[in-house]
Amino acid sequence: MPTLKQLAVETLTHMVEGGQQRLAVDDEARGILRQWMLDSRRGNQAPLPAPASESGGEMSVEQKLDYLRQRAATWKAARALGTLRDTMVFAVGNPRARLMLVGEAPGYEEERQGEPFVGPAGQLLTRILKAMGLQRSEVYISNVCKFRPSMGENQGTANRPPSPEELAACKPLIMAEIRAITPACIVCLGGSSAKGLLDTHQGVNALRGQWLECQGIPVRVTYHPSYLLRNEALGARRALWEDMLCVMERLGMPVSTKQQNYFR
Ligand code: URA
Repeated sequence: MPTLKQLAVETLTHMVEGGQQRLAVDDEARGILRQWMLDSRRGNQAPLPAPASESGGEMSVEQKLDYLRQRAATWKAARALGTLRDTMVFAVGNPRARLMLVGEAPGYEEERQGEPFVGPAGQLLTRILKAMGLQRSEVYISNVCKFRPSMGENQGTANRPPSPEELAACKPLIMAEIRAITPACIVCLGGSSAKGLLDTHQGVNALRGQWLECQGIPVRVTYHPSYLLRNEALGARRALWEDMLCVMERLGMPVSTKQQNYFR
């Protein structure tokens, strides 16, 4: 039997999904919601926007992600904007990953293949992960926006970053994904990802070099790989690598002298 919390979250999720952003609540409801929020901030598992499994027990991470994937495909708040393309690109990787990487939105190649980060920026990301000693299959890779932002009929292979409205519409999905995965650490790839996850208007330069937090999980913000493709400067590459070394340290991964000295 679903708990009161699960039922409430399910109902609220339907409302958010439909684009509703405000709800009048009485003092008692406000007190209960506040307590749930405080519990989740203290690091307790926040409620998932999903019903209990059919057997009534806790859903597995895989079940939670399947459920979210289905919901995302017809996510009303995103569809209602009319500015995002139809094909949903959800996420890829290990549901039990300790490291979660979050980009901005699928581009041409991602939409074509139905997988995040498979175009030129994705290939660079794969090389960065390899340099860290990680395979793509060991981490979880997702985007704050699950649909390729539209640029009209003659878009071709062009891409654009998601607007604040598009980020806000998709935000409940990535938040629920984070709660399902509960990674040890999140890397925001680029400014849109940081804006989508961290309620900030600051750019990457201001946010880099510190540990931030999303739903109690440590977050490191770094440059988007596509920025490195556009900007050949050694400084940007070095900065991204330094961010990744901090992430490796945080995850307790061994760092070899070679890795330490890549850009020295
Ligand atoms: N850029 C992103 O931010 N995400 C992708 O999936 C691909 C490119």
